[in-house]
Amino acid sequence: MARSNLEIILKSPSEIEKMRTAGRLAAQVLEMIAPHVKPGVSTLELDQIMQDYIEKEEQAISACLGYHGYPRCTCISVNEEVCHGIPSPSHHLREGDIANIDVTVIKDGFHGDTSMMFIVGAKTVPLRQRLCQCAQEALYAAIRAMGPGRNLMDVGNTIAPIAHKYGFSIVRDYCGHGIGQGFHEDPQVLHYPNDLSVRLEPGMTFTIEPMINAGTWKCRVNPKNGWTVTTRDKMPSAQYEHTILITEDGVEVLTLREHEDFPRYLKTI
Ligand code: MF3
Ligand code: CO
Ligand code: CO
Repeated sequence: MARSNLEIILKSPSEIEKMRTAGRLAAQVLEMIAPHVKPGVSTLELDQIMQDYIEKEEQAISACLGYHGYPRCTCISVNEEVCHGIPSPSHHLREGDIANIDVTVIKDGFHGDTSMMFIVGAKTVPLRQRLCQCAQEALYAAIRAMGPGRNLMDVGNTIAPIAHKYGFSIVRDYCGHGIGQGFHEDPQVLHYPNDLSVRLEPGMTFTIEPMINAGTWKCRVNPKNGWTVTTRDKMPSAQYEHTILITEDGVEVLTLREHEDFPRYLKTI
């Protein structure tokens, strides 16, 4: 089995409390923006509403703005965009689009990272609808597979049969990550089958953020902006992301939204 020298930072009770706060603030940004995601709105307008909210209401900051030169506060990835879609004044959402909004805030030095899919307007085509459902099901199943003494490689091993059942593919070029005072800490969280063994312990905090593609898993980065990742075949992609904590007897979802149909605390041992 592959092993590597990882520096996984276990969080203390007071650090966990700060992670809870950061996670809640990130989740609240998604709750706040939901009614604004409508046909005709530009992705930059959405970004600016979220930036205002993060800075003025939450007294927090975006972890993305300026991160390796990233120019905006959030990532908004529409249809064939896999991740790192840059909000733009000329990109207006249209009825039936599917859009991932990914928010990472820093509060009191700690990060909360979460994303979800929005269907723009009343409905979309069945393929896009199923893709969003698959990505959410993949995230939820992977969270249920975590807990102290369990293994991080079960993220990928849990997601693979779900993607396969739908006939979709799993992105390999981008992964989840440890998170805390750092945005992207060890370990890497692979969403496809792997033998990267990491025994989970209480106090670990990391994201799970499967990107599921309708066609090929292969991606390309937009050479013009150096950021936006799209599918190679221009088929759509969907992603959901939560930041989670390994507890003494299971998992706590730090970025759970208020009306989300999933438990905050899961007992998994
Ligand atoms: N939030 C993304 C993640 O889940 C990272 C975005 S980095 C940015 O890891 F610079 F593109 F914003
Ligand atoms: Co994210
Ligand atoms: Co992330």
